[in-house]
Amino acid sequence: MTVFKNAVALLGLTIAELVLAKAGIGARIAALEASNSSTLQYPSQFTQNIMPKPIHSHNDYWRDVPLLTALSFGVTSVEADVWFINNTLFVGHEEAALTPDRTFDSLYVQPLVQILEQMNPKNAFTEGQTRPNGVWDTASDIPLQLLVDMKTNGEATLPPVLDALSPLRERGYLSTFTDGAFTQSAVLAIGTGNTPLAQVQALSPRDFFFDAPLTGLEDTAVNWDPTLSPIASTDFAAAVGWNGLGTISDAQLSNLTKFINDAKARGINSRFWNTPEWPVFARENIWRVLLNNGAFWLNADDLEAASQF
Ligand SMILES: *[C@@H]1O[C@H](CO)[C@@H](O)[C@H](O)[C@H]1NC(C)=O
Ligand SMILES: *[C@@H]1O[C@H](CO)[C@@H](O)[C@H](O)[C@H]1NC(C)=O
Ligand SMILES: *[C@@H]1O[C@H](CO)[C@@H](O)[C@H](O)[C@H]1NC(C)=O
Repeated sequence: MTVFKNAVALLGLTIAELVLAKAGIGARIAALEASNSSTLQYPSQFTQNIMPKPIHSHNDYWRDVPLLTALSFGVTSVEADVWFINNTLFVGHEEAALTPDRTFDSLYVQPLVQILEQMNPKNAFTEGQTRPNGVWDTASDIPLQLLVDMKTNGEATLPPVLDALSPLRERGYLSTFTDGAFTQSAVLAIGTGNTPLAQVQALSPRDFFFDAPLTGLEDTAVNWDPTLSPIASTDFAAAVGWNGLGTISDAQLSNLTKFINDAKARGINSRFWNTPEWPVFARENIWRVLLNNGAFWLNADDLEAASQF
C-alpha cells in the first residue's frame, strides 16, 4: 500500500484521477465535459465537427428551424422564397404560408449575422486575418450559398432584397465581384425565380448573382460565367426526364452530361431541381447518376437522407 501511495505521489496523481484512469477513456471524456473546462471551449464552436457538403436545401424555410437545421447537416446552400408585400420581404412557399414574423430578415439575414459574428471573433489572434470566416468551423473558406427565389415581381423585389442584405454587406460577409475581380466571402447570395437578369448584370459592384438557366448556357446573348452566375439550374423532369426506375436511356444520359459539361466548361456549378422524391431507391439512383456525372449540387428536400447518402 505504501509503495502504491508513493507511486501515486510520484506521478502527481490523485486517487480520483487513478479511479478515472481505471474507468477508461469514456469516463475521462465525461468528466472533462462535465467540468466546463476552458480547454474545451473556443469561439467558432457553433458548427464544430460538422462537415460541409454540396447539398442544396430546397425550400429551406420548410425545415423545423430554417437555416439552422440545414447547417446542422452540413448543407452549404439554402433557398428562401421571398414575397415583397407592403414593403416587407416575407418568406414562404405560397401566400397562405406567410406570417408577419417570418421575414427574410428574421429567418435568414439576422441569424446569419449572428452566426458569422461568432465565427469571426475580434482578438489578438485574428488581427491579421484578411478574409472573414464562413459558417463552417471545419472549413472556414467554404461560403454559404443563399438562393433568393423571388416570387413577386422581380424588378420591384430586387431592390428591397439588396437592402435587406445590408447587415451582411456592411460587415464584409458578401462575396463580391468588383473591378473585374471576384472576392469570395462568407455568403454567396444568388437570385432565382423572378430575379431580373438585366438588373443583376448592371450591379457594380455585384454582390448578388443570378441563377443561370442550365439548359440555355449556349445562348450567346449572355456571356454566362461565374462572375454573373456561380450556379446554373434546371428542372430535372423537363431536361432529363428519367424517373430513376430501371436504367437511364442514352438520350437522357447524354442530355444530363451535356448540361453538366456546358456548365463545367464555364466554371459554373450545376443543379437539377424537381428530381423524384419517391420511391427512395429511385431518388437515390438519380442522385448517384447525377454525382457520378459531375453535377455539383444535390438538390434535396430530405436533408438527413442527402447528408448520409
Ligand atoms: C462555463 O465556462 C464559461 C467560460 O469558460 C462560463 O461563461 C460559463 O458560465 C460556464 N458554465 C457553467 C455552467 O459553469
Ligand atoms: C398591407 O397594408 C394595408 C394598409 O396598411 C393593410 O390593410 C393590409 O392588411 C396589409 N396586408 C398585409 C398582407 O400585411
Ligand atoms: C433534352 O433536352 C432538350 C432541351 O432541354 C429537351 O427538349 C429534350 O426533351 C431532352 N431530351 C430528353 C430525352 O429528356
